[in-house]
Amino acid sequence: MITITFLTNGGMTATAPENSNLLRVSLREKGGIPFKCGGGLCGTCRCKIESGLEHTDAVKPKERKHLTEADLAAGHRMACQTFVNGDISVSWIPLSERKR
Ligand code: FES
Repeated sequence: MITITFLTNGGMTATAPENSNLLRVSLREKGGIPFKCGGGLCGTCRCKIESGLEHTDAVKPKERKHLTEADLAAGHRMACQTFVNGDISVSWIPLSERKR
């Protein structure tokens, strides 16, 4: 099992099997990562892997539509497109603080 720490949700933690989808774990455990489509289109699930980036899978083409190379290098991912195979901690900008 792996541990995911939801930093923007008060640092709550959840455990999940290896190779779990990050958004699915967030939904199941009430981690709180924002989302809309769940399918890689809307970009709402944008988050930042603050530690354990090496425990995430390869960046998908859909993510590159929303994230620049600099974003990716800084650890940004789209949670619905990201699978996790080791411990990570993740943060995000709350919807209420995003520019529309
Ligand atoms: S929830 Fe829409 S892109 Fe991830």
